[in-house]
Amino acid sequence: MQVEINGITIDYTDQGSGLPVIFIHAFPLNKSMWDEQIEAVGDSYRSIALDLRGHGHSTVAPGPYAMEQMASDIRGLMSALSIEKAVLVGLSMGGYVSFEFYRNYPDAVRAMVLADTRAGSDTADARERRLRMAEKAEREGAGSIADEMEPIAVGPTTRRERPGVVRRMRGMIEANTPQGIAAAQLGMAERRDSSELLAHIDCPVMVVVGSEDGLTPLAEAEKLRDGIMGSRLEEIEGAGHLSNMERPDRFNEILVEFLGSIEPGSTA
Ligand code: MLT
Repeated sequence: MQVEINGITIDYTDQGSGLPVIFIHAFPLNKSMWDEQIEAVGDSYRSIALDLRGHGHSTVAPGPYAMEQMASDIRGLMSALSIEKAVLVGLSMGGYVSFEFYRNYPDAVRAMVLADTRAGSDTADARERRLRMAEKAEREGAGSIADEMEPIAVGPTTRRERPGVVRRMRGMIEANTPQGIAAAQLGMAERRDSSELLAHIDCPVMVVVGSEDGLTPLAEAEKLRDGIMGSRLEEIEGAGHLSNMERPDRFNEILVEFLGSIEPGSTA
């Protein structure tokens, strides 16, 4: 399905009914990375997954894509779907967007799952790497970014035992445009430090991390757990950075359990 938000087309799926759960994908993937979670959640919840601007089937608008802009797109989608409050499930860049969403629209957040992400902004070196990757995407195409992401985004256990996950990840990256990839990368380079926000988060939060996540390792997840009052941390054994795709069985189990612990409250 598609809707016009903030002057661009946002492509999304919307299924089930009940408490709305919005799935926010990682860089540079698309909403289909959540297929197994949406199936596991079933019809007991209203599951919404969107392609962030520049990804999947949403418009590749000129960048950089600030995290606030992506959060505003999600708020616009909620308005278009008459949703007042939702659970946000964000992985990595999806987590960065979730922090901005909470900063700007705290009353629209019922609960959050922050998976394989970090609150801090980039170091100067990390920012430099992003600028290089953005240039590389434009120069050498999306396939070169898939090559770069493969060894860092997927854990060694998955690379050894579940090559289908790697193929799926590559397929999503290669289907994106170099312009969209570069614009998201530049947006992440400029993102704010959300460490100070953690103490103000006042909703149920589950932090998730793959035990083999080398991009946003356990220490980052522990900072989130320690900074957000009442939050809990789940480590998924044998998963790397893309924990939901790498160990969907375990990710789904904890997701369904977490959702079950939330009182629906007012959602629309
Ligand atoms: C992601 O998985 O969204 C990205 O690797 C995040 C990042 O580059 O910081």
